[in-house]
Amino acid sequence: MFYLDSIKLINFRCYNNNDFTFSPTINIIIGKNAIGKTSLVEGIYCLGLIKSYKTFNDELLVKDGDNFYNLKGRFIESNQNIDFMIGYNEKKRKLVRNNQVIKKQSDYIGYFQVVMFSPDDIELVKGTPSNRRRFMDTYIGQFDKKYLEDLSIYKKILKSRNEILKDFNNNNKKIISLMSIYTEKLVEYAKKIVERRLLFFEELNPYIERQSLAISKQTERLNIEYVANVSVDCIEKEITENLVNDIYAKTTTKGPHKDDFEFMINNRNACEYASQGQQRTATLSLKLGLAAMFKDYNDKVIIILDDVFSELDKNRKNNVMKLLIDKGQIFITTTSIKDIDINILNNSKVIEISKENRDNE
Ligand SMILES: Nc1ncnc2c1ncn2[C@@H]1O[C@H](COP(=O)(O)OP(=O)(O)OP(=O)(O)O)[C@@H](O)[C@H]1O
Ligand SMILES: [Mg+2]
Repeated sequence: MFYLDSIKLINFRCYNNNDFTFSPTINIIIGKNAIGKTSLVEGIYCLGLIKSYKTFNDELLVKDGDNFYNLKGRFIESNQNIDFMIGYNEKKRKLVRNNQVIKKQSDYIGYFQVVMFSPDDIELVKGTPSNRRRFMDTYIGQFDKKYLEDLSIYKKILKSRNEILKDFNNNNKKIISLMSIYTEKLVEYAKKIVERRLLFFEELNPYIERQSLAISKQTERLNIEYVANVSVDCIEKEITENLVNDIYAKTTTKGPHKDDFEFMINNRNACEYASQGQQRTATLSLKLGLAAMFKDYNDKVIIILDDVFSELDKNRKNNVMKLLIDKGQIFITTTSIKDIDINILNNSKVIEISKENRDNE
C-alpha cells in the first residue's frame, strides 16, 4: 500500500506553516469558502506533478509577502517512509526525494500518479484544444518518463524552427540547410509523440468505457477519439510538404502541437450533441478511467476531487465515490458533508479547516 501520510506547507498559498495528517483511504477536507481547501489539495498535486493545475505562475503559489515556499510530503510504502520535498526560492525549484536532490523534472514525476477532478474539467469537452493537449501531456507524462523527455525536446525544436520561420530568407543557404535539419528533427520527435498518444488512448479507452457504463447505469458508453493533426504514417510527408504554408504563416502549422481529441458518447460527438449533465458525466468517466488504469499500472494513485461534489446530485456523488474507493487514496474538498453516504463518511477522515487552526500553527 502506498499513501500520503502527512504534508507540511510552508508559505504555500494561504498557509504559513501548517501540517496535515491523512488517512490512507478517504480524506474529506471541509471548511468555509476561501479558507484554504483548494490550496491544500493544490499542494498535494504539486508534490506529484511539480506544477499546479490552477496556474503556470509559480510566484502565485508563494504566500503573499514572502519569497519562497516549501512543500514536504511523507508517503508510506510497505511500511517505509518516502519523503518528497519541493522548495521554491528566487524563481528556482529544488526537488528532493528521500534526501536526494533530483535534477531533472522527468526523474521526479511519475513515482506516484495523481488524478485530479475539478469543476474546470468541463473545459476538456467545451474548451479549446490546448486544454486537451495539456491533459494528454500531464497524464501520459505521469507514467511515461520518455514521453516527457521527448515532448520537451520536441518543444525546443519547434521553438527554434519557429524562430527561423519568423524571418525566413529563401536565398540564404545557411538558413535553408538549418531549416532542413530542424524539420528532420521535428518529424523524428513528432512521430514519437503521436505514437505515444495513440497508444495512450488505445489503453485508456476500455477503462473509460467501463466507468461510463457504470455511472450511467449502462446507457452511455464513452470513448475518446484522438484527432492527430498529422497522421502517424505520413508525418514526414505532411510536415515537409507544408513548408510553403509555414513560411507564409511564419510558424509551424502542422504537428502534434496542434493535436486534439473528442469525447464520443454512444458514438456521437459529446461537444455538439450531449447535454450539460452528460458532458459533466463524461469528464467524470474520463478521470475515473484514468484512476482505474493507473491503479493497474502502478497502484500508487492519489485521487483529488476539488469541489466537484457541489455540482453533483446526492446519487451521483455517492456513485462516483463508490467507483473510486478501491482505486487509490482519496482527497475531497467540500463545504458540506451532509449529502455524503453515512457508510462512506464512517470510513473517512474528516479534516476541518478553520481560520483558527490555519493561522495559529
Ligand atoms: N499566494 C497567496 N498568498 C496568500 N493567500 C492566497 C494566495 N493565493 C491564494 N490565496 C488566498 O487563499 C485563500 C484560500 O483559497 P482556497 O482556494 O484554498 O479556498 P477554498 O477553501 O478552496 O475556497 P472555496 O470553498 O471558495 O473553493 C483565498 O482567500 C485566496 O485568495
Ligand atoms: Mg476551493
